[in-house]
Amino acid sequence: MSELPKRLFVTGTDTDAGKTVISALLTLALDAHYWKPIQSGVNTDSDTRDVRALTGLPQERFLPEAYRLTEPLSPHEAAAIDGVRIDLNAITPPALPQDAPLVVEGAGGLMVPLNDKALMLDLITRLGLPVVVVARSGLGTINHTLLTLAALRAAGAEVAGVIMNGPPHPANADAIAHFGRVPVLAQVPMLGDLSPQGLKNACARYIP
Ligand SMILES: Nc1ncnc2c1ncn2[C@@H]1O[C@H](COP(=O)(O)OP(=O)(O)OP(=O)(O)O)[C@@H](O)[C@H]1O
Ligand SMILES: [Mg+2]
Repeated sequence: MSELPKRLFVTGTDTDAGKTVISALLTLALDAHYWKPIQSGVNTDSDTRDVRALTGLPQERFLPEAYRLTEPLSPHEAAAIDGVRIDLNAITPPALPQDAPLVVEGAGGLMVPLNDKALMLDLITRLGLPVVVVARSGLGTINHTLLTLAALRAAGAEVAGVIMNGPPHPANADAIAHFGRVPVLAQVPMLGDLSPQGLKNACARYIP
């Protein structure tokens, strides 16, 4: 197992891959702050609120979003509907004590547009944090994950590793480690108990 970086960006192979649940585990594991720079669908969705509920950590660990968009759509479309343009220069890491651990959660996957020019991948390379890729455990994940890793490397991003999420399928994890030349940092099954205590137990059990 490789060591987790203390500051990292969590992306996924797709929306709903489990970035928020894994971010909650990583926030506990690193005793970190959590930051979701771009949140779509704020009237119903808040990953910050969800990670707070999942971890039970105090409010001060949760940094304010840079963009809070009304519609539950891709950021570029949701921003256009709200009449704003997402500016990558306006998305800077919040001021924290030096070396304070930080978990940053993206939206969707790498190729999600933020405006008419930039993708989530551009934000990742600007922030310059090592990237953890959350991948589904089941059929289809090898292709999605290897494509995601290839795109990260082509853009010059540092890949910290992959975390598999869902019913364990070790052959998929092995194939991703082998073809992706990447550490599979953890394999997290479906968790029956999403309370803070359940998350703490899962963190101790599954996160290195
Ligand atoms: N390991 C898990 N155990 C139990 N439930 C899970 C697990 N992983 C994901 N889920 C559930 O699946 C759904 C999608 O997961 P999650 O919200 O973490 O995805 P996401 O990648 O953050 O999505 P988005 O792109 O909207 O941010 C949620 O309802 C979450 O609670
Ligand atoms: Mg999420």
